[in-house]
Amino acid sequence: METNLIPVGIIGTGSYVPDQVVTNKDLEKIVDTSDEWIVTRTGISERRKAQSHMATSDLSILAAQRAIEAAGIKPEDLDLIIVATITPDMFFPSTACFVQEKIGAAKAAAFDLSAACTGFIYGVSVASQFIATGMYKYVLVIGAETLTRILNPADRNTLVIFGDGAGAAVLGPVETGKGFLSFDLGSDGSGAELLCQEGGGSRLPASIETIEKGKHYLTMAGNEVYKFAVRIMGEASIKALDKAGLTRESVDFLVPHQANIRIVDAAVKRLQLPAEKVYINLDKYGNMSGASIPVALDEAVRKNKIKKDDIVVLVGFGAGLTWGSCVLRWNY
Ligand code: UT7
Repeated sequence: METNLIPVGIIGTGSYVPDQVVTNKDLEKIVDTSDEWIVTRTGISERRKAQSHMATSDLSILAAQRAIEAAGIKPEDLDLIIVATITPDMFFPSTACFVQEKIGAAKAAAFDLSAACTGFIYGVSVASQFIATGMYKYVLVIGAETLTRILNPADRNTLVIFGDGAGAAVLGPVETGKGFLSFDLGSDGSGAELLCQEGGGSRLPASIETIEKGKHYLTMAGNEVYKFAVRIMGEASIKALDKAGLTRESVDFLVPHQANIRIVDAAVKRLQLPAEKVYINLDKYGNMSGASIPVALDEAVRKNKIKKDDIVVLVGFGAGLTWGSCVLRWNY
């Protein structure tokens, strides 16, 4: 089909993870768990924790500056900033507005996007529509989280899984045939309660009682989310490949959401990919929700795992429930 749409791609990536490392051994001292359980059930050995003075926008800014530099543009060139996060600095204003001011993106519009671990995929999908139509030229998409701020220190189900970090990508116009080839996004709100932060919103405003009951913490029905994840990661990848007119044989590199090594393995098996075509860093960082995919992507790019013209698949799932995948022909 002939269209007048402008081809859009990622033209620079960046990431930042806090220095403080929390090992499985550290967590053994806090909850009833073991390094052996965490490694065999999740693949995670350690995760990062933001210093108490750093909020999500602070992590975002460092990732964003690296992405802007890699893209070879100036902050003033940005037309829009999207921050995908479930741990914003505040409910409002948006974390994206704090980033806009701090990086000096004088002409950029800014908003946050909430799709949990799928947030970065949703974010690049939204961003690319603005560029494809010619409305904007450069859009910065950030996935950033300070999840350790909403973890219940007494809940071993979640404490061992999640960590803090930020990843960013600058999107812009690219050569015809390059960049984003397709997206597949989805949601199923019937699973909303499987992974949520119940208190503090309009349904259950913060009160002494909600605090006493720990309603301000993230809760997760891990096993239910696990079953959904194992199915959806492969399905969403295949759907996005279908939409791009490609098959799993054409995939050169997969950057999956870094939730649990067993979930990633299931997706890899479905796509029948060899290990060297898959990027994994969950052993070092755990699950950073919206930050997982962009941090992994940035590391893969900087390690030259992704080359020009490679077919790259990004795929994720998360609270909502939400899921999403996109296929790119890498453009640099
Ligand atoms: O980005 C999206 C966010 N969420 C996810 O991706 C999470 C998806 N789910 C998972 O990754 C896995 O379900 C978990 C890693 C969270 C849990 O693994 P599982 O194999 O599904 O374990 P389970 O929940 O079925 O629990 C098995 C046992 C339970 O004990 P009992 O009832 O059999 O005695 C748990 O209480 O393991 C226990 N358990 C733990 N034991 C030691 C749960 N967490 C821990 C822990 N250390 N940290």
